[in-house]
Amino acid sequence: ATWDSFSIIQEFEKSMPRECLLLPKTHPKISRTGRSTVAAAIQIHNAKIQPYEKIKARGLPDSIASVLNKLVVVKLNGGLGTSMGCKGPKSLIGVRNENTFLDLTVQQIEHLNKTYNTDVPLVLMNSFNTDEDTKKILQKYSHSRVKIYTFNQSRYPRINKESLLPVAKDVSYSGENTEAWYPPGHGDIYASFYNSGLLDSLIGDGKEYLFVSNIDNLGATVDLYILNHLMNAPNGKRCEFVMEVTNKTRADVKGGTLTQYENKLRLVEIAQVPKPHVDEFKSVSKFKIFNTNNLWISLSAIKRLQERNAIDMEIIVNPKTLYGGLNVIQLETAVGAAIKSFENSMGIKVPRSRFLPVKTTSDLLLVMSNLYSLNAGSLTMSEKREFPTVPLVKLGSSFTKVQDYLRRFENIPDMLELDHLTVSGDVTFGKNVSLKGTVIIIANHGDRIDIPPGAVLENKIVSGNLRI
Ligand code: UTP
Repeated sequence: ATWDSFSIIQEFEKSMPRECLLLPKTHPKISRTGRSTVAAAIQIHNAKIQPYEKIKARGLPDSIASVLNKLVVVKLNGGLGTSMGCKGPKSLIGVRNENTFLDLTVQQIEHLNKTYNTDVPLVLMNSFNTDEDTKKILQKYSHSRVKIYTFNQSRYPRINKESLLPVAKDVSYSGENTEAWYPPGHGDIYASFYNSGLLDSLIGDGKEYLFVSNIDNLGATVDLYILNHLMNAPNGKRCEFVMEVTNKTRADVKGGTLTQYENKLRLVEIAQVPKPHVDEFKSVSKFKIFNTNNLWISLSAIKRLQERNAIDMEIIVNPKTLYGGLNVIQLETAVGAAIKSFENSMGIKVPRSRFLPVKTTSDLLLVMSNLYSLNAGSLTMSEKREFPTVPLVKLGSSFTKVQDYLRRFENIPDMLELDHLTVSGDVTFGKNVSLKGTVIIIANHGDRIDIPPGAVLENKIVSGNLRI
């Protein structure tokens, strides 16, 4: 096709994902040069963000073990479970049949190692907040067929917003200093991994790629097709960095997106977007994809760039208020922001199933339910669900803490036919409840609603006072 015809470009634009274009939508007044820039950007974009189906179509090598043996799985494990009312590392929260995030991760890798007779290690990036508790638990896996390594990310001093001086009185982390420090975001992985010596030792063991993901993303399993695509590059030119992106829905408008600037892919996070453009950034029609934080990164590239001090990540300023009311700022970086520093980076647009994060008890309800089945540490959507979409669940503040949430469900309701659930106020669920279609349960202040055992609620609004 020639790019001269305006209608061709319009057609092209309609049919193509535009997520990596920061250019304004083509409109009749756009200049000829503007149009060809749009066309050029679309062309580059198509090569830089490939559909997963295309990667999968390349198939698998005869010897899967030889590619798997060059892989290291890294889980970001610096975060606490505070947003779900839990003390200690988030990775130790029970998510399915008594298994924690960490248990499921170990089971997945163990299954890979047993199936292919391989030696894929698991590396946990801990923070000073999670290291001690995590290490205690790791003993439990000493007989599993997964080598587990840990390294610690940095501890940075929080800064007083007014004086711009560190809040900490000294370098200790105790007493009045406990709130004075923070883990500086997962972008810290490059420096901390390198400084720990573990990066070099894994390179020495013949490892070539890292698969990095959030430990709370239950969809982040090792994908053999992506690994094979990396190890056996189609044009012989290896990709140093892959970011898995997926279609954005209204539920994930805050996720970072990929854009293209000066021929390099870049991650743009909401925190970097000027206020007047935030709505535009959130738009699911303008920026159609977002970062799942499932990343595949070359070990030798990290080493090369780290030694040249050439990993460039935008700094995100995160304002916080400490318990005592003191306003502080913490400076953070995101692991995906380094994409622009790597050579030959690409995005792979993966199915939504690779992004199954558990950030709230509403997410927890979904993954605990019969919507998913558990197989060797991996959750897959039940075949009994007619539509592949996940129901929209909004549990109110009485359910925020995991303990309260568990107390309010005698067991997890049947949700196979659920589309939408909203629960607010003092509500409890008896045994073997079925929820179908759209269900809204609202107990106003002072009221209580106990859903009786065995109840089937289909397209129902329940309110008032219902005690059993
Ligand atoms: P978060 O839960 O804090 O982030 O961390 P988020 O809300 O998903 O948003 P993104 O992914 O940062 O955009 C995601 C993962 O990163 C780890 C957490 O433990 C979690 O697994 N993390 C976060 C660290 O390991 N270190 C950090 O400093 C921050």
